Amino acid sequence: MMYPKTVYIHTIGCQMNVYDSERIAGGLAPLGYRQVSEPESADLVILNTCAIREKAEQKVFSFLGRMAGLKRKNPELIIGVGGCVAQQEGRKILDRAPYLDLVFGTHAVSRLPVLIQQVETTGGRLVDVALSDTIQESPIYAASPNLDQISRFVTIMQGCDNYCTYCVVPYVRGREMSRSPERILSEIQALADAGIREVTLLGQNVNSYGKKEGLCDFSELLTRVNGIEGLLRIRFTTSHPKDLSDDLIATFNRLDKLCKHIHLPVQSGSTRILSRMNRKYTRDMYLEKIARLRDACPDIAITSDIIVGFPGETPEDFEDTLSLIRQVAYDGLFAFMYSDRPNAPAAHFPEKISEAEKAERLQRVLGLQETLTLEKNQSLVHSVQVVLVEGVSQRMNASEASPETTPQWYGRTPGHKIVHFPERERLGASGNLGRLKTIRIEKAFSHSLWGRPVSQEE
Ligand code: SAH
Ligand code: SF4
Ligand code: F3S
Repeated sequence: MMYPKTVYIHTIGCQMNVYDSERIAGGLAPLGYRQVSEPESADLVILNTCAIREKAEQKVFSFLGRMAGLKRKNPELIIGVGGCVAQQEGRKILDRAPYLDLVFGTHAVSRLPVLIQQVETTGGRLVDVALSDTIQESPIYAASPNLDQISRFVTIMQGCDNYCTYCVVPYVRGREMSRSPERILSEIQALADAGIREVTLLGQNVNSYGKKEGLCDFSELLTRVNGIEGLLRIRFTTSHPKDLSDDLIATFNRLDKLCKHIHLPVQSGSTRILSRMNRKYTRDMYLEKIARLRDACPDIAITSDIIVGFPGETPEDFEDTLSLIRQVAYDGLFAFMYSDRPNAPAAHFPEKISEAEKAERLQRVLGLQETLTLEKNQSLVHSVQVVLVEGVSQRMNASEASPETTPQWYGRTPGHKIVHFPERERLGASGNLGRLKTIRIEKAFSHSLWGRPVSQEE
C-alpha cells in the first residue's frame, strides 16, 4: 500500500472518541493517508471533538484557531471537524471557522472516506450530521499501526437512552444501539491476531447491551469475548448502577480474562440530587450494589465519577457525597465541576452554584480521594499481582525511584493500578511487552506501586 498523503488526527474527549479516531484512520488508509503526529506536515487535519463540559468545547475552538494559521501557510490543507461538538453545532461551526472544509457528526464516521474524496475532488464545504436509527459499521481495520500498543477500545454500543438531566450524550450520540456480537467478535479476533492483548468494551450503559435488538445479553457477550484466542484481558465501561445485575456481578468470578475492576459512576451521594439528575437510583440502592459486588468478589477494584455543584446542591447534599466516597472507599475517582450544557434540561434548573464554590467542593473531593487511594495502594504491599506489561518506565519521579539501576518496566494490575518493576533478565527488542508478569508489591505511592517479579525474588 502506498501512502502518498498524510493525516493528523487530534482527539478530545472520551474513549469512544479514541475508538472513532481509530476508525477514521482505518477508513482513510485506503485513500492513501498515513497518520502523522504533527499537524504542521499534514495534508489533512481531523479534529474529533467532545461536548461533555464547556471546557472541552472551548478546546475545540482554540485548536481550530491554531489550524487557521496552518491553512494560511498551506491553502491546500483540508480541515475536518467530527465528534460531539460537530454533531451539536453542525453548520454553525462552518460559519464560525471560515477555513474549515468539513463538519461530520458522530454517525458519519463510516461515511468519512467518501466525504473526504468529495472535498478532494470538488472542494466545497460539506456538512454531514445525519443521525441514523441503525448502526453504520466501518470495515474492520485491525492492523495495529503502533507496534507498542497492546490495549485497545472497542465500542459495542452507541448512544444513550438514559437522559440524565446534566448530560449532552443522548443528544449528540443519538439513541442507544448495540452492534452485533458477530461484528464485535470478529473485530476483537482481528485485533488479537495483530498483537493486541487487552480490550476495553465501551458503551454508555453496557448493562443494556443487546436488549433492544434482541441480541445476546452483555454477560453472554463477555463470555464469548473470553473465548478469543490470543487475548489476555477484558475490561468494560460504563456500567450504570441502576441496571447492574447479579448475573453481571457473577461474571467477574466466572471469566478468567475479565479484570476484577468496575467503573460504577455514582455522580452524587445525595438521594435528593440523584433524583434531580434522573439517575433512577438512591444512595441506598447504590450502596447495596457495592455490597453485592464485594460479597461476590472481595478484591474487586471500584472506581467512580462524581459531579460537584449540580444546581441546588446544598452543603448537606455535598456532605452526603463525601460520606459516600468514604464509605465505599473507591480505588479511584474522576470528579468534575457541574457544567451547563445547552441541550440538557439541568441548564434551566435554578439555584446554580458559583464557580468558586464548585472549585472548592472539587478540591475537597480530590483531597479526600487522594488519601483513600494511598491507603488502598498501601494495603496492596506484600500482595502478589498479575501485571499486563505496557512498556518501559520513563524516568521515575525522584520520590518514587528505587535504588535499582536495572531497566524498569511498567504494567497494570487487574484493578488498573500502575506497577513499576525492575527486570534483570536480558530481553529481546519487545521484551516483556504484552506479557503477564507476576509481581510481589513492595512499595506503594499515591499514583503507582513498585514491586519485583516473583521469579526473581531472592
Ligand atoms: N455513561 C456514563 C457517563 C458518560 S459521561 C455514565 O452514565 O456514568 C462521563 C462523565 O462526565 C459522567 O459520568 C459525569 O460524571 C460527567 N459529566 C457528564 N455531563 C456533565 C456535565 N454537564 N457537567 C459536569 N460533568 C459531567
Ligand atoms: Fe449521560 Fe446519563 Fe447516558 Fe451516562 S447514562 S451517557 S451520564 S445520559
Ligand atoms: Fe465527550 Fe462525546 Fe464522549 S461528549 S465524553 S466525546 S460521547
